[in-house]
Amino acid sequence: MKKLYFGSNLKMYKTPTETELYLQDLQERTKDISREEIELFILPSFVCLERAMHVTDADLIRIGAQTLHWEEEGQFTGEVSARMIEDLGLTMVMVGHSERRHVFGETDAEEAKRVQTALQHGFITLLCIGETAEEKEMDATEDVLREQLKVGLSSVTPETVGQVRVAYEPVWSIGVNGTPASAEYAGKVHATIKKILEELFGEAAAGIPVLYGGSVNPDNACDLIALPAVDGLYVGRAAWDAEKFDRLIREAMVKAKEAGK
Ligand code: 13P
Repeated sequence: MKKLYFGSNLKMYKTPTETELYLQDLQERTKDISREEIELFILPSFVCLERAMHVTDADLIRIGAQTLHWEEEGQFTGEVSARMIEDLGLTMVMVGHSERRHVFGETDAEEAKRVQTALQHGFITLLCIGETAEEKEMDATEDVLREQLKVGLSSVTPETVGQVRVAYEPVWSIGVNGTPASAEYAGKVHATIKKILEELFGEAAAGIPVLYGGSVNPDNACDLIALPAVDGLYVGRAAWDAEKFDRLIREAMVKAKEAGK
């Protein structure tokens, strides 16, 4: 069976105490699931990371940061460097989440610098990509994703390609006002993403997990994970209750097995 990836971005929701309780609960509930079959990762807010690292077993839950700055250090008030999160023992960082791009105005060129720094520091680097509703309307999805992947992953080398993961999160599907992508649409776009990754990295592309995110919930998780080009689910709201996330993971695993994955 192929390894499945399940992760959650906690955004700016849980406090350090809430994060700690959530992670303890999630770890306890999911600890019997073989980590040969799944990888589980959670991305808390920066101020929660130290406590998150203390309460989790790295073999069960990988903790990641929600972003990082590309410079090693400097006069960048409010920013967090790779060295800082590395010092906490983290092994993963996300780059280019839709909210970073669209609420905070981050560009592909900036994401590329973040990816480069993250890879240089040895982090598992999760690059998020996705088209807006307007881009989808204009039939520009493939062009937008190609640009985001080409620029964002421009520093990737044969040595670092194994650290790369991609999350496809269509902007229009994310959050309380989002509409989940249909399995048909997600399947089509994931196949396109795999094709673009192959153009960029050849055979090594097969080793890059591509996760779907954006209004994943208990009703659509099984259909999405069953898609051949979907390697995992990246979940927001539906993962923030440990019991519900545990159930979603288990149901998705059954469905993936039935689908022959
Ligand atoms: P929702 O699942 O709440 O739509 O959020 C998805 C997301 O942004 C994960 O990064």
